Amino acid sequence: MTGTTIHVSLADAAYDVMIEPGLLRRLGSIVAQIAGPTKALLAVDERITSGHGLVAQRSLHEAGFTTTTIQLAARELEKSLPTAQRLYEAMLGGGLDRSSPVVALGGGIIGDTVGFAAATYLRGVPLIQVPTTLLAMVDAAIGGKTAVNFTLPDGGLGKNIVGAYWQPKAVVIDPKMLGTLDPRDFRCGLAECVKYALVADASLLDFLADHAEAIQRLDMDTLARRGGLIERCVRIKAAIVEQDEREAGPRAVLNLGHTFAHAIEAQQELDVLHGEAVSIGLVAAADCALRTGRIDAAQQQRITKALQRFGLPLCLPRPVNADQLMRAMRYDKKALRGRMRLVLPVGLGAVEITDNVPADVVQSAWSHVGAVLVGSR
Ligand SMILES: NC(=O)c1ccc[n+]([C@@H]2O[C@H](COP(=O)([O-])OP(=O)(O)OC[C@H]3O[C@@H](n4cnc5c(N)ncnc54)[C@H](O)[C@@H]3O)[C@@H](O)[C@H]2O)c1
Repeated sequence: MTGTTIHVSLADAAYDVMIEPGLLRRLGSIVAQIAGPTKALLAVDERITSGHGLVAQRSLHEAGFTTTTIQLAARELEKSLPTAQRLYEAMLGGGLDRSSPVVALGGGIIGDTVGFAAATYLRGVPLIQVPTTLLAMVDAAIGGKTAVNFTLPDGGLGKNIVGAYWQPKAVVIDPKMLGTLDPRDFRCGLAECVKYALVADASLLDFLADHAEAIQRLDMDTLARRGGLIERCVRIKAAIVEQDEREAGPRAVLNLGHTFAHAIEAQQELDVLHGEAVSIGLVAAADCALRTGRIDAAQQQRITKALQRFGLPLCLPRPVNADQLMRAMRYDKKALRGRMRLVLPVGLGAVEITDNVPADVVQSAWSHVGAVLVGSR
């Protein structure tokens, strides 16, 4: 199968997203075209160091790079400033200068953290994203958002509180790497695919339904071909990023479900993964949309069915106080001058950004996904 390339057309920071099974073996020559053979940092998710990590390392060596390799744990608690500091130390130790490339090989946690370190080391060095989860392939690796988490005043985990926009020089997607991914982690990526369908392309909902079995058995043709799942999602993200690189406006549509999701993720005891939180967040956003007349009951059902089909969660694993979740929502970066901003579906394939949703509608949405309303009305 031949690969496909999507060009992300940004005025000062254009780059290619390359999708091809087996592409990891050509990583070195791709990086060499960006930053001629020099010193490089390869930051790898520790779970894949001995597999995909070795292939990447070998490819970089064959292309002439002197590589410092660092292993990172893909845990939200380690998507942190101390991990960024470890990365700075590795870059200094490896003698990386301003032209030295930094390669992030991992899922969204690794990509966000390494991206943040690359954005800030020597005020910014070339970054190559090599996403290894479906979620990172269709979303996190593209668009230049990098960040680490930070503890909130109430002790909760503040998602992506410290960060920077830093576009990669290239995104190298080898869908074969999905073969080692845990099915639970693979499903998380499908939540973001459903999100793209709701944001921009209702026909993607049909594609997901028609190809559900092939997607879940990692059929490379369905995932990686021209017009396949990964390319369709990447094109949607790229088009939105091109319109609004720094989320001054339209890019915020990509946050559909995420204001709810980040409040869920702040409840660390729930042990919910990001994509699972997004799935529950989409259900909550759909409930708000139904209650405010933006979608009808049949459309709401299509949304929940799309998530359920892939075994994604529709409600919280345990009841949580709705007030606690409402408070966590207010720390979200999308809150503006104290008003909660939500992205809600309008029909299927379009969304609206609004700060006019009454608090009792949001509380009801929390209740709909299993939160408890304790004297909060
Ligand atoms: N920057 C953005 O625009 C953006 C967008 C969406 C999500 N995110 C962030 O991405 C993070 C979630 O990313 P994720 O879902 O990729 O999770 P992740 O990075 O935690 O990876 C999920 C799990 O899969 C393992 N893993 C990764 N690749 C593997 C492979 N090929 N084989 C075997 N195991 C593998 C990891 O070790 C981890 O246990 C969150 O922190 C979220 O905030 C960022």
